[in-house]
Amino acid sequence: MEYRNKLVLAPMVRVGTLPFRLLAAQYGADITYCEEIIDHKMLKCERRINEVIGSTDFVEKGTNNVVFRTCDEEKDRVVFQIGTSDAVRALTTAQLVCNDVAAVDINMGCPKSFSVSGGMGAALLSKPELIHDILTTLKRNLNTPVTCKIRLLKSPHDTVELARRIEKTGVSALAVHGRKVPDRPRDPAKWNEIADVVSALSIPVIENGDVFENDDVERIKSATGASSVMVARGALWNASMFSPEGKVSYEAVKREYIRKCILWDNDIKSTKHTLKEMIIHYSCLELPEGKAVIKSESMADLA
Ligand code: FNR
Repeated sequence: MEYRNKLVLAPMVRVGTLPFRLLAAQYGADITYCEEIIDHKMLKCERRINEVIGSTDFVEKGTNNVVFRTCDEEKDRVVFQIGTSDAVRALTTAQLVCNDVAAVDINMGCPKSFSVSGGMGAALLSKPELIHDILTTLKRNLNTPVTCKIRLLKSPHDTVELARRIEKTGVSALAVHGRKVPDRPRDPAKWNEIADVVSALSIPVIENGDVFENDDVERIKSATGASSVMVARGALWNASMFSPEGKVSYEAVKREYIRKCILWDNDIKSTKHTLKEMIIHYSCLELPEGKAVIKSESMADLA
């Protein structure tokens, strides 16, 4: 897995399922992260081959609840992101999927109370020993590349110190979201503080934050020195932003997304959630299209 000069689809809960990852890749994303999956949930799963649609599924035992679905087409670029607070659980989770994905990543940036109260996500940022334990355990026991995604700490100095400690664990790359834990999504990403991390490390640093257009990519690369850029909301609103030829219409992207959701038998709830997020950005859920999506009970209704 090469992490330099890449366009990366960011992990997004309830959005980054197989159809959305394939959509982003179709428009030009080189690396595609899955939504964060919590270790406890994954540890209840078994691997099943789905002969009907040609996917590899991780399904909660005794149910048909698909927790992670992937396919051969994305094997060289899909990154499996784990939500964890424990090295052994993280390793056991990674071992379940490592032969089906290109890399595993640990989420160290999520500020939501669900994550933080469970000692996961941004809670890890204040526990460098635990970060070290998780990452070195994964590195020692896996042949798959290991990465992590952090937020900025209170001071640029603290962020650089943490990034240096992370680099020493042998990770293949580090993604840095240019916001601090209390920051809101509307607060601008601090590219200058990402630049400090880039200049302090030798491993590839993936810039994350406020890339909305393909034209932003070069500007942000030169502002931060990072050679790779990770996009969340810009891709959610129009996944064709990855295309160097320019965006296609949001209507076309939406149609292609639904087509892929049908082909890959995507979960209806996650499909509706993603569509609603797309629609809210361009229009509103009170209009007929939004209302129809909310009322839909099946893929056929959505189509
Ligand atoms: C996110 N983000 C996120 N981060 C992460 O590490 N794991 C995750 O599962 C999620 N889930 C998620 C869902 C949705 C809907 C959004 C919008 C965001 C954070 C995301 O990956 C990214 O760090 C931030 O959104 C900043 O990037 P942008 O949006 O400025 O490109």
